[in-house]
Amino acid sequence: MSENPTPNTDPSEDILLDHNYDGIQEFDNPLPGWWKAIFWATIIFCVPYTYWYHFADGNGVYDEYDAAVAAKMEREGAGGPVAEGASGLMALMDDPTHMARGKAKYSTICLACHAADGGGVVGLGPNMTDDHFKNVKKIEDILTIMEDGIPGTAMLSQAAALNPGEMADVAAYVASLRGTTPANPKEPEGEVIPPWSAE
Ligand code: HEC
Repeated sequence: MSENPTPNTDPSEDILLDHNYDGIQEFDNPLPGWWKAIFWATIIFCVPYTYWYHFADGNGVYDEYDAAVAAKMEREGAGGPVAEGASGLMALMDDPTHMARGKAKYSTICLACHAADGGGVVGLGPNMTDDHFKNVKKIEDILTIMEDGIPGTAMLSQAAALNPGEMADVAAYVASLRGTTPANPKEPEGEVIPPWSAE
């Protein structure tokens, strides 16, 4: 160490301020201008922000969540929660909106094998308008068959083509075909099953 060190020409050299509180002194190290600018900007920003989101009609996260849920239900063709079980499907059968949605999907996906009016196609899907069913015993079996398919047959799972809301609408639509009179009914297959029941 030399006796006379070179004077410190660094502009950031610490400058001791002249006040002294109980022996505690401080250096004059101001925060950079950009830092202070951001600090003031956040304080100014919070005034309109608080006003807009807490007192005016700004959309908060809860509103965005509600909008997202509504959009999802709209996409899934569900006016409410997806129909559960037999009573849910029976309720959809009484709802013209759901029947129309079910028919629209049925008419693009199912008609090739089950015919547009559900009368069935020889060598392909069975008639779904009569009281005879091969795999269905209760109304909710229609939905299960659509979800899982019937192994070893041309009846594949429709889960990739239809979302849960659409699946329920189509199942209810298929159930509604029972008792109608198709143009070219395929002859009955399977057993006679009891009428649809919500139980
Ligand atoms: C590629 C042809 C094909 C398509 C498309 C198809 N199915 Fe099927 N489906 C069949 C066949 C074949 C059977 C009979 C399987 C068997 O032999 O048990 C069947 C059986 C069914 C059954 C049971 C019928 C019974 O007698 O128990 C239901 C319900 C059904 N399909 C609904 C649908 C719906 C709803 C769609 C459209 C979303 C659909 N299927 C699309 C071929 C098809």
